[in-house]
Formats: sequence, structure tokens, C-alpha cells
Amino acid sequence: MKCQATSSAVGVHERKGDSEQAATLSSPRLRKYWAPLSIVIVSVLLAFALLAVSAGYRFTQWSSDVPSAAQLSLCPNPTLRPDWRTLGNSQKSAYISAVKCLQRLPSISNNLRGANTRFDDFQAIHVAMADQGQFLPWHRRFLKLFEVALQDECGYEGGLPFVLVSCSQVAAHCLRSYYDWSPDIDSGIPLAKFLIFDAVYGFGGNGLDIPNYAGQFGNLSALASAGWLAPGAGGGCIVDGPFAAYNLSVGPGTSATNHCLQRAFNDNIRQFLSSDMIKHVLRQTTYETFRIELEGAPVTQTMRLHDGGHNLVGGEIADHYSSPGDPIFYLHHAFVDKLWWDWVGLDFASRIDQISGRTAVVPPYTNVTLDFELDTMVAPVVAIREVMDIRNPLLCYTYG
Ligand SMILES: *[C@@H]1O[C@H](CO)[C@@H](O)[C@H](O)[C@H]1NC(C)=O
Ligand SMILES: *[C@@H]1O[C@H](CO)[C@@H](O)[C@H](O)[C@H]1NC(C)=O
Ligand SMILES: *[C@@H]1O[C@H](CO)[C@@H](O)[C@H](O)[C@H]1NC(C)=O
Repeated sequence: MKCQATSSAVGVHERKGDSEQAATLSSPRLRKYWAPLSIVIVSVLLAFALLAVSAGYRFTQWSSDVPSAAQLSLCPNPTLRPDWRTLGNSQKSAYISAVKCLQRLPSISNNLRGANTRFDDFQAIHVAMADQGQFLPWHRRFLKLFEVALQDECGYEGGLPFVLVSCSQVAAHCLRSYYDWSPDIDSGIPLAKFLIFDAVYGFGGNGLDIPNYAGQFGNLSALASAGWLAPGAGGGCIVDGPFAAYNLSVGPGTSATNHCLQRAFNDNIRQFLSSDMIKHVLRQTTYETFRIELEGAPVTQTMRLHDGGHNLVGGEIADHYSSPGDPIFYLHHAFVDKLWWDWVGLDFASRIDQISGRTAVVPPYTNVTLDFELDTMVAPVVAIREVMDIRNPLLCYTYG
């Protein structure tokens, strides 16, 4: 658990337009206006085509056979989960304030070890459940509970933002790298400059340097064989941003210790978060290979988008158990969840009920089915089939 085809639809419309024009052109008055009119029509079609191409990856789910929410009696007004980079400063501040609000509200669970606040509650749930094996469906349910807490308990009006961690810098570069990551851009902008790590309108920056930091969390030899190289500076407590003053009480790992939020930015890992990796994972034809190629090591030999995002930021978020102690966790996992939904949308009819994977990380386990029940400890258990469509009233969100 740890954690384009747009042309066919356009073609159909063009054909329909042709036959309608042929019928109306039999009137001589209309024929007079046809030349200028056709230029307008062609320009409009061209503009739409350009828009579709430039929006590329974002439009993948709409170019498929996804039935509408109304057709399936799903929730009519889903919460929009935006791309963090598209938010204005006031929207970013509103989200950060809501997370800080959860960090002030007292824990409402008395059985979650170490949890002092509502924010800690979610981290503690993750610690307790991290060895369960239903990676994508479990996190989908978990993220929704976090989103509802932000909304109902802290008055946040938006949806949980998502972010591709490796591409959160200056907007223009970001758009380009989001769709068409180039190695030049990749090596040109250090992680520390990414806007998501902004001290005011972001989540704060790297941890204080610990000389020769070699990774505090995880199995280093396993990480190294998956492509982990020691980061440069970093590894200690974060020193700026809205979360620098908040000490965690859950973690690190399965412990419950008063400690600061640590990060260890690792530019060596950006190769695992390229747009090629997004294309690679969306090309998978079965859920079984999709989930493996998304989740990454140790099942894959090297990192993938999911574990790459965790290890790129490093520190607490790189911990198998206590990773939600870094608020960036939720944005990274929303992106992972978006990829799942995008992948389903590429062949909705055959993928909306595809599931596989183990019921737990370590034996004894069996293979999950759609009836397997997801336990988040604090909310009713729900069957995996109830979280397959994000427009189900239980979830009711969509990605922008
Ligand atoms: C660490 O990872 C290596 C390589 O994957 C593995 O052989 C070893 O058993 C792991 N050690 C622990 C303590 O899990
Ligand atoms: C926060 O944790 C760090 C250790 O990670 C410690 O040095 C510091 O004193 C703690 N701050 C508070 C207010 O407890
Ligand atoms: C569990 O799923 C894997 C991967 O799809 C498959 O190879 C294996 O045979 C399945 N095991 C059982 C007991 O169905």
C-alpha cells in the first residue's frame, strides 16, 4: 500500500457539419455568406484542435468512453480537486490555513498511538494501516476522509489539491515539463526553487543540512538498489514555511516521538518523475501492471512515480509508515490517485471494475477483489467497489 486520442471526436463533428452545410448551401443567399462563414468555422475548429493538443495529457479522460455522472446516477456536483500550480496565492493560503487548522484541533481518536491533533490522527491511521496491501483504493478512501475533515472541520471550501512533485516550479516551465518534460529543464531548476516549497505560498523548503546525511528512514540498501543516491544538503528539520513550527508526535516510522518535520531534497530522483514516466504508466494495459508500475520499488527494480515522489522530497515523507506527517503527502497522493482515474478513463468500460493486488504487504495474504473491505479505523469500512468511480456519492470529486 505504501505507499490521446482527441481526433476521432473532432472528426465526427466535422462530418456532421459538412452534411448540414451541404443542405443549407442550396439557398443562394446563404451561399453568398459561405466563404467568410467557412473561414470562421475553420478557425473555430482549428482553435479547438489547438486547445485540445495543448491541453494534451489533461484531456485524456474526456477523450474516452467515460459515461456521464447523470447516466450512472452519480453525484451531480463533485468537488473539484485542482492542480496546485493553478491556484492563486489566496487559494494556496486558504488550503495551508485549513491544514494548520487540523494541526490545532484536538485528536478525536483515543486509540491512535501518539496522535495529539486531527492532523496527527490521519498520520496515525496511516502508520497503523501501512502494511495493508490495497495501495490505490485504500489511499483513495483515506484522502477523501482528509478532504472532508478540511471542509467540515476547518471550513475549507475547495477540494484537495494535487501536485506532480517534480514539476512544481515556475508556471511556464511547469506546464512544459508537465506535458513534455525535457532533460534540460529537468537539470536546470533545482528542487529548492520549486514553488511548492515556497516559504509563504507553499509548504516550506528543505531540511537543515546534516553533513553526510545518508537517509534516516527506510532500508538504505533497498533504496540504493532502486536508484537512491545520497542527496546534497538537507536531512534535518525544515526551517521555513507554515509547518516549521509544528512538531510531529506520530512517527518517525512506527514510533511516537516528539520531533520536527524533516526533509532531504534529492535532485537525483527527478529522473523517476519525468513525463515519460507518466506516459509509461498510462500505457499499461492491465490494472495489475498499472498499479505495479505506478507504485514502484521494491516490486519494480527502480523507483516509479509514487515512491519517486516520496523519496524526492525525502525525510518524513520518505517513511513507509509516517509519511503523512509531511503535508505534501496529500498532494502527492492526490496526483497518484488522479493517474489511476486518468488510466481508467482511457478505457472506461473495461477498467472501471479492474482490481488486483494483495490484501496485505506481508503474508498471510490473498488477492483482493471488488468486495474486499477497506478499513480506515475511524470511518465505516467500505468495499473496494465503492471507491472505483470517483463520482460515487461516497467520494464525489473530480480532477481539474
Ligand atoms: C534491505 O533491503 C535489501 C535489498 O532489497 C534486503 O536484501 C534486506 O533483507 C533488507 N533488510 C531489511 C532489514 O529489511
Ligand atoms: C521539536 O523537535 C525537535 C527534535 O526533532 C526538538 O529539538 C525541539 O525541541 C522540538 N520542539 C518542541 C517545541 O518540542
Ligand atoms: C493473485 O494475483 C496474481 C496476479 O494477478 C496471480 O498471479 C495469482 O495467481 C493470484 N493468486 C490467486 C490465489 O488467485
